[in-house]
Amino acid sequence: MSILEEMDAYTGKITKILHQHHLEILKVSENFLRGNINNENFLDFVENFVEIHMELDENIIMPEFKKKIEKYYPFLFDTVIHEINAEHLGIRNIVCKVKISENKKEYLVEVARRIIISTYKEEKLLFGLIEKHTDEGDGDRIIKNVERFLDEKKKK
Ligand SMILES: [Fe+2]
Repeated sequence: MSILEEMDAYTGKITKILHQHHLEILKVSENFLRGNINNENFLDFVENFVEIHMELDENIIMPEFKKKIEKYYPFLFDTVIHEINAEHLGIRNIVCKVKISENKKEYLVEVARRIIISTYKEEKLLFGLIEKHTDEGDGDRIIKNVERFLDEKKKK
């Protein structure tokens, strides 16, 4: 079973939009690694779609869930958040290297691999906890915040 097929079995409500982003991010990254997408198009996708998604993770999702989940799993949650933030930073650092490097392909392959690992970790380590520890009313509010964030980004 491929990573995408496994993730298609997902049934979460609150993290649904983020999960849909992840499916798109994985699809494009895997297609790049298979040689079906050129460097420029993949870099454009990372700088726009992936960057906005990472900002959504950092600005809306993680702070929202930190208050709730750290009550149940304080050390685990801190570690997960720390790891995801570090991965996002790593991805952005390599994107900077792509721009100044002669060998763009090598760095973009590294970006694609890191994106795939980071996405998989979020799905497996974070989303289950989020779905389990968020009640319905709060979940609806979070979904609205996600939608508002994305609408604002579209306007820019
Ligand atoms: Fe994410």
